[in-house]
Amino acid sequence: MQILTVATSPIAGQKPGTSGLRKKTRVFMQPHFVENFVQAILDATGGAKGKTYVLGGDGRYFTPRVAQVILRMCAAQGAQRVIVGQDALLSTPAASHLIRLNGADGGFIMSASHNPGGLDEDFGLKFNTANGGPAPESVTDAIFEATRTISAYRILETQDIDLSQIGESRMGDMRVSVVDPVADYAALMETLFDFPRLRALFAGGFRMRFDAMNAVTGPYAKEILERRLGAPEGTVLNATPLPDFGGLHPDPNPVWAKALIDEMFGPDAPDFGAASDGDGDRNMVVGRGTYVSPSDSLAVLTANAHLAPGYRGGLAGVARSMPTSAAADRVAEAMGLAHYETPTGWKFFSNLLDAGRVTICGEESFGTGSNHVREKDGLWAVLLWLDILAARGQSVAEILADHWKTHGRNYYSRHDYEALPNEIAERIVGGLRDKLAGLAGQTFAGLVVEAADEFSYTDPVDGSISAHQGFRVMFEGGARFVIRLSGTGTEGATLRLYLERYVPGPDGLDEEVQAALAPVIAAAEEIAAVRRLSGRAGPDVIT
Ligand code: G1P
Ligand code: ZN
Repeated sequence: MQILTVATSPIAGQKPGTSGLRKKTRVFMQPHFVENFVQAILDATGGAKGKTYVLGGDGRYFTPRVAQVILRMCAAQGAQRVIVGQDALLSTPAASHLIRLNGADGGFIMSASHNPGGLDEDFGLKFNTANGGPAPESVTDAIFEATRTISAYRILETQDIDLSQIGESRMGDMRVSVVDPVADYAALMETLFDFPRLRALFAGGFRMRFDAMNAVTGPYAKEILERRLGAPEGTVLNATPLPDFGGLHPDPNPVWAKALIDEMFGPDAPDFGAASDGDGDRNMVVGRGTYVSPSDSLAVLTANAHLAPGYRGGLAGVARSMPTSAAADRVAEAMGLAHYETPTGWKFFSNLLDAGRVTICGEESFGTGSNHVREKDGLWAVLLWLDILAARGQSVAEILADHWKTHGRNYYSRHDYEALPNEIAERIVGGLRDKLAGLAGQTFAGLVVEAADEFSYTDPVDGSISAHQGFRVMFEGGARFVIRLSGTGTEGATLRLYLERYVPGPDGLDEEVQAALAPVIAAAEEIAAVRRLSGRAGPDVIT
């Protein structure tokens, strides 16, 4: 076995986005592309010498190859040990847990999350740090800098290692531990939730459907829901991770998980439905005939988490990303909890979680999680909902109705305009930026602008500032819209328009969401002219 030093040169475009580096698979397959990026990660984080890493991913096309490259590069650069999920599989939350459990120095997660997989679809690679969370901006900036000056990488010349067998082996001087991707994660869940109560729930005939969307959560959901909790076989659908996710778009929202929604709104619907994304960090929950928006889900979980054993002592606080609705803030205020508003992306929660300032976090993009790991966690959210349903003995619809009666309702929707030409997206965003200062006091579609700004976040723990995190236009009465450009897309620009309107109740809590938001949608178009400037009749995806 020989350590090769391979000359290379910088490859443009290796800037990690909201959640690691995501590109078309064929881009990742270019010569040196993976190697350059991995070398940059290692260089930017002080080298691999003596370090322990976790490695796994959502099983998408090209994952087995990339796993071998990462192993060979870690081995060439003196890493002590890599803990790999069997078949190179690990959900993102399970990877986060393994990093923490083993005191590892970091982890490589091969995933493009909810983006489709396959030769002509997307691939991604993200690096998590020793706390188990996504690398913060200081680290991703350093990685990007390293990709711009790279001149060589080091890799071990050796045979592929067999990742299909659980057990210990060596690659050069490095220890390779192939582990069951599910076992440690499932054990963690048993510490947080009342498994006997959940077993009793299923034994009593409670019916559930979990759509794993042919992605990584299949094995996790099968083990936990069907084996440990006794839900009938067949509760988990699309349970085998496939390289192309069976052609599905593994994004758990009403658009891409339509089959689940149809079943939940159809005759003889189960009591509870849920879905997860490609790498298992996102979740969608649905009751019989009742869709739960992620912002509402965060609020309900915050209000009820104390019913689960892992949170019996109460919560330290709650954090949400800026575009997420303020529903969780209302709960926090009512319960006297600290609440925080952070930029989009899970990495911004890490400091708050590490400092013990918050226990639960969430994003409107179907992500919720807690301090048990440093990533959002789809199955965790599903299990917390189940535990709350079991403890309260009510349906999802009853719990939601009760919640809105107590706290009022934040009607909420996100409108995505996908694959816009970059210059059009820039024109829309630039136009809004120019207008911002003059908006306050003006009326649009009957709504009076109270304030408008570009969101900038000062991390309360380390004082770091993240500017340019999206435009907010707030109206009197608690309505608002937000516009920002996606940091995870791989084609053109994706513009996200987030819409929100608060209704205190007791009347008006049961309107159709888009109808309830109509004035905000109209005001946003008057101000930002997304439809007019893009020439699109409407958004591509509404969630
Ligand atoms: C999207 C979501 C964001 C999430 C990220 C990673 O990022 O909006 O909340 O953290 O995916 O799952 P965006 O494409 O908006 O930058
Ligand atoms: Zn994901």
